[in-house]
Amino acid sequence: MSRVNPFRPNSPVGPGMFAGRLSQLRALEEALLQTRAGQPKSFMLTGERGIGKTSLLQYFKWIAQGHIDIARDRVNFLVVELDLDASSTDLGLIRRVNLALDRELTKTEPARSFLSTGWEFLQRIEAFGVGLRDGKQIADAETLHDEFAHSLAKTCNRISQADATSVFGAQYDGLILLIDEADNAPRALRIGSFLKLLTERVQRHGCEHLMVGLAGMPALREVLRESHPSSLRLFDELPLDTLSRDDVSWVIDRALRVANETNDEKTTIDDAGRAGLINLSEGYPHFIQQFGYSAFSTDTDLVIDIEDVRRGAFGPLGAMEKIGDRYYRDDFYNKIQKDSYRQVLRIMADDENRWVTKPAIRSKFRGTTTTLDNAIHALRERKIILAKEGERGTYRLQHRGFAFWIKLYTSDPKDLQSQIEATGKHEEPAT
Ligand SMILES: Nc1ncnc2c1ncn2[C@@H]1O[C@H](COP(=O)(O)OP(=O)(O)OP(=O)(O)O)[C@@H](O)[C@H]1O
Ligand SMILES: [Mg+2]
Repeated sequence: MSRVNPFRPNSPVGPGMFAGRLSQLRALEEALLQTRAGQPKSFMLTGERGIGKTSLLQYFKWIAQGHIDIARDRVNFLVVELDLDASSTDLGLIRRVNLALDRELTKTEPARSFLSTGWEFLQRIEAFGVGLRDGKQIADAETLHDEFAHSLAKTCNRISQADATSVFGAQYDGLILLIDEADNAPRALRIGSFLKLLTERVQRHGCEHLMVGLAGMPALREVLRESHPSSLRLFDELPLDTLSRDDVSWVIDRALRVANETNDEKTTIDDAGRAGLINLSEGYPHFIQQFGYSAFSTDTDLVIDIEDVRRGAFGPLGAMEKIGDRYYRDDFYNKIQKDSYRQVLRIMADDENRWVTKPAIRSKFRGTTTTLDNAIHALRERKIILAKEGERGTYRLQHRGFAFWIKLYTSDPKDLQSQIEATGKHEEPAT
């Protein structure tokens, strides 16, 4: 039986299946209204792997572009999206902003001509390289950044003028620059300093409607701080944690509704199956999408029950393997070759991502102190565990989702059964 599977383990979630995040959405909507009113507010979404940063960024984009209302209000921003990787450069970033604007705006001849004159410095650089203007050596990075700020400010102002509709097809409330995976920014990019100077310069050039939104792992704070200590102040941090049990249950209902709108054969879920999915996923959005996907595809009788959930999760090529491959295997197998290292991770996973002392690890570790020391050293080097500042010999796993995955992955089958079947024993995460 081939039914279209409604769960989305491999991509950010669409607006129809987006659950929770109410407090973050409230803050983001407020920031949009402030920016529209000329008091620009920037933000950063932080959270561990798979927690839903990109999904929230996408949902925010739909609001910002006016596809989803804010209460009874609606905004209309021009949104430019980028993501960073270890090879990103300032010129590359500027080019991509320019390209994105080109794609969005050059629908008419006046719009095309505005952009080509407004961003003429880039063509110069394409033609002569970064260091040349009119054949003379000029541009240090500073000049490049200043020209960029100037062009961005001019564009931002132009698209919000009263006659913008006739030129660009719409009058916008301002410009939003979204940068995903911002924690990947290489040190040389000096992203904190780049963005701080950019927003200040853009304002100096008279644009009060530019908003910057970043998303990345919690290490993003350090990346920003390292390149400019006060760049952190520019961004309101919105940390993302797990979803509530109600949110997860809603995702399941929503997914089945979508499936049943598409497929001729109608699928349901029984109470034990639902509780099993909720317990296994612990509120992690990437877990619910994968466990849901695997249970749905394992089911053959159109009722997802606890057995479908269990086989979907732990069977061959099941959800646990998929999640491991996609998010954690690198940390659990590839980055660490030794069994003793994995033993330390298993011991630490019992405390999720809370601090654990070395004597506590030692008391459960089967091996010599030297092996344990080496293991801890290697795990720290690879940033899989973190050391507590000011307290020697205290460590924790970086990500709670990873701890939870290790626990499930290495559990005794008997313990697993009770984990899947336990209902309502988990605390609701604070909202
Ligand atoms: N609010 C949500 N409601 C339902 N599903 C969600 C939600 N947020 C994320 N998901 C699902 O969780 C998974 C991970 O989401 P996403 O890619 O947005 O996370 P991320 O934090 O950006 O991950 P990464 O660290 O890998 O970049 C996806 O399968 C997505 O469909
Ligand atoms: Mg992402």
